[in-house]
Amino acid sequence: MRLSKAGSGRDAANLHRTLTLELVRVTERAAIAAAEWRGKGDEKSADDAAVQAMQAELMRVQIDGRIVIGEGEAGEIDHLYIGEAVGSGEGPQVDIAVDPLEGVTLCAKNQPDSIVVLAMAERGGLLNVARDVYMHKIAIGAEYARDVVHIDQTATDNVKSLAAAKGVPLREITAIVLDRPRHAALIEELRISGVAVKLISDGDVAGVIHAANTDDTGIDIYLGSGGAPEGVLAAAALRCVGGQMQGKLILDTQEKRERAYRMGITDAGRIYDVADLASGDVLFAATGVTDGTLLDGIRLRRQSVETSTIVMRSWSQTVRWIKALHAR
Ligand code: FBP
Repeated sequence: MRLSKAGSGRDAANLHRTLTLELVRVTERAAIAAAEWRGKGDEKSADDAAVQAMQAELMRVQIDGRIVIGEGEAGEIDHLYIGEAVGSGEGPQVDIAVDPLEGVTLCAKNQPDSIVVLAMAERGGLLNVARDVYMHKIAIGAEYARDVVHIDQTATDNVKSLAAAKGVPLREITAIVLDRPRHAALIEELRISGVAVKLISDGDVAGVIHAANTDDTGIDIYLGSGGAPEGVLAAAALRCVGGQMQGKLILDTQEKRERAYRMGITDAGRIYDVADLASGDVLFAATGVTDGTLLDGIRLRRQSVETSTIVMRSWSQTVRWIKALHAR
């Protein structure tokens, strides 16, 4: 199923239109479940609640769906494992990437930016990566020429080139980086170059999206490494909102290389761009669990529960923010 914006693609496109709202139901349900565990210091229960709610709601969607980025391998976990069939079995054949609770620690500590994330694409449209694999990532806005930054260049060269392309001094560039010991040298290099560094404790799906939306966030570039699944999910979002990203898998053990090979990755050193990570017609949905920079968190009211979701679609480039009230 390849969708185009005109002509014969229209029927299929309409099918995906209705799926957009179905996905919102899925991420809303998972976020409400996870929110019960906000601030309780119990990461596992928060994650389990989100996983179970997401899986149950996904089963109701009229798709012939397959999890390609999930919570783990078949046999290791009960729900949302790689290869699991989801949906009613009737409807379009689609691949699904999930992060039922992006920022489990943030949720357990009731800190900003814990979200539920899901992306859906045509069969074969999402790079298949395991949850324990990391990825080097670099992301900037869509407004720059394609050769302004490159993942193989030094951070200093990249921010210098970006500042020149933006027409500002380096001190006016802000980079977003996951606050991890492995990034100590990167952070130091950026600070020496004069760039401002915004450190995040978790949640680099939102981090990459922010780097592509500089006007609203003040963030010019994402640099560093994070989860490969999060890289694919962020790429799905960029397909919808625009933005550039390059990713390179970190397959640092023989076991990871072999597993990646079995999942279809034949070139371990390949540099992926956004369309390599998420291709064809792509839907992306995220619902806030805790209040954050991308989304408000779940609000528990006396009579209702309020959810905030962003849902977008690459085919139409539509971005919707949906506030919903659910009866308690
Ligand atoms: P989890 O919710 O799965 O813990 O992921 C949070 C996260 O911060 C991601 O956004 C990021 O890609 C990844 O962890 C980075 O991994 P690590 O914490 O091992 O550096």
